[in-house]
Amino acid sequence: MKTPIRFLVTGGALTLIVLTSAAFLLPDPQGTGLSVGEDIPFYSLPWNDNPFFPGEIRTADGKMLNSQNILAAEFCAQCHEKEYREWVSSIHSVTGPDILYETAIRNNELAHKNRLGKEKTRWCDACHEPVNLLMGEINPLAVVGPSQAATEGTTCVICHTAEGTDPLAGNGALTLDINDLNRYNEALIMAAPGEHARSMQAKTHNPLMGSSDFCGACHTEIRPSEINGGQPMHLQNTYEEWRDSDYADKNIQCQDCHMHPDPAAYISELNQTGRIPERIVSHRFVGVNYLLTDSNLPSNLVTFLRGGLPPGDIATDEWKAELLEQNRLIRGLLQAAADLSISAPESVSPNSEGALSVTISNSGAGHSLPTGALDQRHIWLEVKATDAAGKVVYHSGWFDEKTGQIDPAAVIYLKILNDVAGERIYEHILFNVADYTYTRDPIPAKASDTVDYAFPIPPAVQGPLTVDATLWYRLALQELVTYSLKLDIVLPPVMMEQAHVEIPIR
Ligand code: HEC
Ligand code: HEC
Ligand code: HEC
Ligand code: HEC
Ligand code: HEC
Repeated sequence: MKTPIRFLVTGGALTLIVLTSAAFLLPDPQGTGLSVGEDIPFYSLPWNDNPFFPGEIRTADGKMLNSQNILAAEFCAQCHEKEYREWVSSIHSVTGPDILYETAIRNNELAHKNRLGKEKTRWCDACHEPVNLLMGEINPLAVVGPSQAATEGTTCVICHTAEGTDPLAGNGALTLDINDLNRYNEALIMAAPGEHARSMQAKTHNPLMGSSDFCGACHTEIRPSEINGGQPMHLQNTYEEWRDSDYADKNIQCQDCHMHPDPAAYISELNQTGRIPERIVSHRFVGVNYLLTDSNLPSNLVTFLRGGLPPGDIATDEWKAELLEQNRLIRGLLQAAADLSISAPESVSPNSEGALSVTISNSGAGHSLPTGALDQRHIWLEVKATDAAGKVVYHSGWFDEKTGQIDPAAVIYLKILNDVAGERIYEHILFNVADYTYTRDPIPAKASDTVDYAFPIPPAVQGPLTVDATLWYRLALQELVTYSLKLDIVLPPVMMEQAHVEIPIR
């Protein structure tokens, strides 16, 4: 059994008093969980009636989870090997231990050290480490023992006990019927599999599982004003972007694309035939994280980035092979997301101004392109014009492979976060954001964006002029890798799409 990376805070004298009195209050840990507010009144912070606030996740009975009886993925894997193997290479299995997350949590905590920094990370944990939050980890009480499930990020029982959701509220707004699972054992399941399926919210029993509303709970991120600022701040809107799109009208849900065993194949079938393909379910949740799935990285870097070896019974070699397959599917999805075209004049003349435009169409994503954590995820355009002698006439959007720097003048789609002093925030310190701007607005589903370019054509240019346009995707800012992770590696981009034209010189 692994121990959670983060553990309880225990502080000064006040905490000690609380601990002593708690020993008398706490029922035997064999029960179905402790009642927040009754058994542990001091778990609730002075913020809100929901004891898990500023996270919006909650339990149906209002009780905390008991670390003794939270079923880990390994338990489910005994009978659902396929789902386990898919999930274990997904990003959902590491939403908590992900080193990028752990580092960002520490940085946010430090930024608000004397202003309930630790408690405020409940907001983040509602989506990233729900088991920890519901067990009361962020709590001055030592009621929480190590639990394997707590290290598993978004583990099976978090999704499979969701009986309600509020996708517009976001911040993990699921209601989990999770506290009776300690009655579970293999024999009882096999004696009454139908009852088991119902308690695991089988889709035939709970249609919510098949709908975007379920995913929306964690794919809508709104910083509450209790953390900072006068107004709630919308930080991730993937669900709403989807809801406002054609895909929602056509009943194409998140699951259709992201739970398909090969989302790129799904999108290409959809776009080519115009018919909605049948839903096929895989737990890989293919997305964009080509870093945390790259097991070709040297010195076990992928194990480090994912916060350790996977839970459950899978050989390291097999797991690494599964990760590479995930990585292949991710690159495929990125290449299925957009189309690129160049509109150029029929000819250009030496010693004049060349003008052309490049259009990016969001043809494959069921939401904006890019979406998600947009202060980190970004796409940009590279446009390069070369003459017949091989001379580079124009180059915008270059990438320096030695430093990870992108042309400062590039056409880039990124969200710029600023703090109250107007300083740029590079390392995902969401607690400190005072305002943000987009360098260029994300492109809504099925929409496109056209970018105009103009550059001087030299007198001695040799025709024809070759123009190459490339759309690049990068998972995170180099600053996050260099300063937060303190890794001496350059985060390379992934090519999404390319276009090419030749322009005669006249
Ligand atoms: C001892 C074997 C066993 C274990 C352990 C087990 N399951 Fe199941 N599960 C089954 C069987 C058998 C069914 C089929 C029941 C049916 O369809 O009538 C099933 C059905 C399901 C379904 C419904 C599938 C559908 O068709 O929609 C879900 C979801 C599910 N299990 C999730 C889980 C999760 C999550 C865990 C771990 C907490 C788990 N199971 C542990 C045997 C098991
Ligand atoms: C991020 C949420 C999430 C996690 C984590 C998750 N599941 Fe699921 N699971 C779903 C959804 C959603 C469906 C229903 C998809 C559909 O049919 O539309 C599903 C369906 C299933 C089914 C029915 C499969 C089928 O083909 O009909 C089983 C069995 C299952 N899950 C088991 C597991 C097990 C075991 C784990 C952990 C190893 C797990 N799930 C983790 C969301 C999740
Ligand atoms: C029509 C297929 C499709 C549907 C439907 C869809 N997506 Fe996506 N999704 C994509 C594609 C393509 C990408 C990669 C391009 C991008 O990042 O936008 C992606 C990327 C993502 C990413 C990673 C974003 C990033 O760049 O970091 C997340 C998270 C995500 N989707 C969640 C969702 C959720 C949640 C829903 C439902 C509300 C959903 N998706 C619906 C196709 C789809
Ligand atoms: C309990 C919260 C939770 C639920 C429910 C949830 N997700 Fe996620 N999901 C996350 C978090 C947190 C991340 C980012 C983790 C990270 O990068 O460390 C994520 C990441 C993703 C990604 C990006 C993976 C990548 O490769 O970058 C996709 C795609 C995705 N989720 C799709 C879905 C879909 C589809 C559903 C519904 C079936 C869903 N999620 C339900 C919390 C959740
Ligand atoms: C509403 C749920 C939610 C909340 C609250 C939330 N996140 Fe996330 N976070 C996500 C999702 C979903 C993604 C992945 C989106 C994507 O792929 O673009 C993500 C991505 C990240 C990433 C990038 C991980 C990677 O591997 O690239 C970091 C770091 C992160 N979150 C840290 C935090 C911190 C720190 C907080 C609190 C200050 C926080 N998150 C609050 C849902 C959430």
